[in-house]
Amino acid sequence: MLAGLRLVSAALAALALSFAIAPGTAVHIRNNASPVTVPFARRVNATGIAKLLEVDRARAKSFKTGTRAAATPFQQNAAADVPVTNQAVDYVMTVTVGNPGKNFSLLIDTGSSNTWAGSRPTENPFVPLLGSASLPMNLVAVEYGSGSVMGIEVTDTLTFPSGLVIQKQSMGAALVSTGFTAVDGIIGFGPVGLTCGTLILGSSCIPTVTDNAFSEGSIPERMVGFSFAPTSTLDNTNGELTIGGVDDSKFTGPLNFVPITSTAPASQFVGIDQSITFGSPTGQTILPMTAGITDTGTTLLLIASDAFATYQSLTGGVLDPATGLLTITPDQFANLQSVFFNIGENSFEFTPNAQIWPRALNTAIGGTPGNIYLVINDVGTPTGSGLDFIDGMTFLERFYYVFDSGNNRVGLAETQLTRAEIN
Ligand SMILES: *[C@@H]1O[C@H](CO)[C@@H](O)[C@H](O)[C@H]1NC(C)=O
Ligand SMILES: *[C@@H]1O[C@H](CO)[C@@H](O)[C@H](O)[C@H]1NC(C)=O
Repeated sequence: MLAGLRLVSAALAALALSFAIAPGTAVHIRNNASPVTVPFARRVNATGIAKLLEVDRARAKSFKTGTRAAATPFQQNAAADVPVTNQAVDYVMTVTVGNPGKNFSLLIDTGSSNTWAGSRPTENPFVPLLGSASLPMNLVAVEYGSGSVMGIEVTDTLTFPSGLVIQKQSMGAALVSTGFTAVDGIIGFGPVGLTCGTLILGSSCIPTVTDNAFSEGSIPERMVGFSFAPTSTLDNTNGELTIGGVDDSKFTGPLNFVPITSTAPASQFVGIDQSITFGSPTGQTILPMTAGITDTGTTLLLIASDAFATYQSLTGGVLDPATGLLTITPDQFANLQSVFFNIGENSFEFTPNAQIWPRALNTAIGGTPGNIYLVINDVGTPTGSGLDFIDGMTFLERFYYVFDSGNNRVGLAETQLTRAEIN
């Protein structure tokens, strides 16, 4: 019986050959295809001191240095000199792989585009059947800054909780991974270009789950909409992902689209142009109009070092050594003003309450109960890097967020919780 055979030796044999996976690009006529909505959860790891800022910065660094496609198996961390740490905050969804299937808890990531499972070989192994290996066989390797994976690329069926089935998804079965022991792997919702070069042999790209759901005729558009309400509890399944469209019930204001930025390297990601002002849309400039990215895999809101210095002086915050975050006094918080994210023709208000880390979760990030920590921090390079900010989940939780990969644009809308007092 070949079924159940681990593919390691076959994969090593594949290294001797030279070929590539043909991307599945056939587009079928869609009959009655409609968007599919799937729940997802936020989990905060409250054990130990979570290096929230360290993980986010490591990720930012790998975005900028372009080390995501690891050229050499087993040496993924050579280029990015960063510690490997578990994510402190995970946004995860359950996906069934195979038929009959096995459930995996996958990190939802718009900052990367490969999908893979098997990071916890003891707790929840992903043992693909020999027949599921992509032919010709290939290895995949991806560097995430704060972690990495190397595995065999296989083709399998993905089933989402709401019944959406992707018959043929090319995905990784991890052989070695670092930094992802709290999840089983990643489901990549970023642009397909980020997969190009992640296969060891050949230079082809790997169609994403969004691409495949569309090309198999299961969704009407290559679009994903994210709704996640801010919350101050540790684990919370109040997120909702809509594959193939948007969920109108999750936003209040108009959905405003802007094109993906043309400035590299942000242009390779779900990148946009924005400026940030203090107090009003025409108030003091914190960040001049520049390129950066939106990213569900980053927790904080990181901005260029010079912009961060301006923000620090406007808030009066001091750097807290334990968390790396700015901390402000209750008086300073009482006087804190909104910051405005000016994106396209629109200005998105980010209230004082939105700017602080949920106080109930201070200890989860190594903070002191009762302190007030700001979620805006330093991306580590000055303005002009081509990736001057990362609008991470602390930002995205306040707005409805859409990545329309079919039309290369990003949508944002206000929600009922944009100005809510939650943190
Ligand atoms: C996978 O999880 C879903 C709920 O998300 C559940 O209904 C299903 O039975 C699970 N399947 C397996 C194979 O465990
Ligand atoms: C939480 O993080 C600690 C390290 O800070 C790690 O040892 C532990 O395994 C993590 N727990 C989970 C469930 O990821």
